[in-house]
Amino acid sequence: MAILVTGGAGYIGSVAVSDLVARGEEVVVIDNLVYGHQEAVGPVAPFYEGEIGDSDLVTKICKAHSVDACMHFSAYAYVGESVTEPRKYFENNVVQTLRLLDTLIDNGVRNFVFSSTCATYGEPQYVPIDENHPQSPTNPYGETKLMVERILKSYDVAYGLRYVALRYFNASGATETLGEHHTPETHLIPLVLAAAMGKLPRISIFGDDYPTPDGTAIRDYIHISDLSSAHLLALDHLRSGGASEFINLGNGSGYSVKEVVDCARKVTGREIKAETAPRRAGDPARLIANAAKAREVLGWTPEHPDLESIIESSWKWHQANPNGYTPAA
Ligand SMILES: NC(=O)c1ccc[n+]([C@@H]2O[C@H](COP(=O)([O-])OP(=O)(O)OC[C@H]3O[C@@H](n4cnc5c(N)ncnc54)[C@H](O)[C@@H]3O)[C@@H](O)[C@H]2O)c1
Repeated sequence: MAILVTGGAGYIGSVAVSDLVARGEEVVVIDNLVYGHQEAVGPVAPFYEGEIGDSDLVTKICKAHSVDACMHFSAYAYVGESVTEPRKYFENNVVQTLRLLDTLIDNGVRNFVFSSTCATYGEPQYVPIDENHPQSPTNPYGETKLMVERILKSYDVAYGLRYVALRYFNASGATETLGEHHTPETHLIPLVLAAAMGKLPRISIFGDDYPTPDGTAIRDYIHISDLSSAHLLALDHLRSGGASEFINLGNGSGYSVKEVVDCARKVTGREIKAETAPRRAGDPARLIANAAKAREVLGWTPEHPDLESIIESSWKWHQANPNGYTPAA
């Protein structure tokens, strides 16, 4: 039995592929390489370049590899772009996912682990945010993920598709061999490290007048190895007959933008220039997870919860791979 990993050449999916293979699972990857890097998968798993919405291809993969479960990482995830080009996001994240789900069901696959997001909650009414917090996304990206969550609920009732939808907070960090290489990059830690490496003249701090101790926005950073371990536990939960669940993944503690920049200065020993810029629309002051459910239901314990070790792991990877992954030939 194999696990189909969609978006397995991306930042988070590639780590899950590596961890699944390391524990002896059979894995097969599909990625259209629009944002992924085949080098991040390497020779460890069969790789299919293609669209998740291509039913013929996904059927072929399911049959050839006896797929019994799917981890669905593939999506477009640029919040700003989702506002200016929503059709791209609804098409890729919702329509293509619907095609994928239908193909999986038609091929008898009933276990599904989904990459959802804290963006489904929208502006927090309270923090830490638990899974019962109202969901009211403030951008189309968050809407697409919420739509898929709703589709999953209906598909469970009608078709017996069981799922764990994991609502990630801020994915960050690197393993020894796999790291963050998004083009364009919008995430704070790789941008700060790019500034430390002299690849960016400075970084922008969007807003320093939030109601937080130092005035900058606070986020919950979670190491990709901890994200990945939660996926493996979610798979075990489903395979052992566990019920469908929506589960937050975060550390339950937050760091401000200024704290991230200061920590990166300490870890790298480099000067990192920062300038204050206006707030971005729709950026809440605080996004912090209540991650109790992940511990209770999945038995998950994050192993890299502190910011310094997250940034250290990232810095090590960026120094070893100053240009990220090699561009496709
Ligand atoms: N990075 C974060 O902090 C974060 C936070 C919350 C949720 N998420 C979600 O986690 C998932 C993975 O995020 P990531 O940071 O690894 O992103 P990523 O862009 O590195 O990986 C996504 C991968 O999916 C592939 N892809 C996109 N559309 C596809 C399609 N139609 N068919 C086949 N492949 C396709 C891309 O080429 C890419 O390799 C996404 O669903 C994202 O929405 C990420």
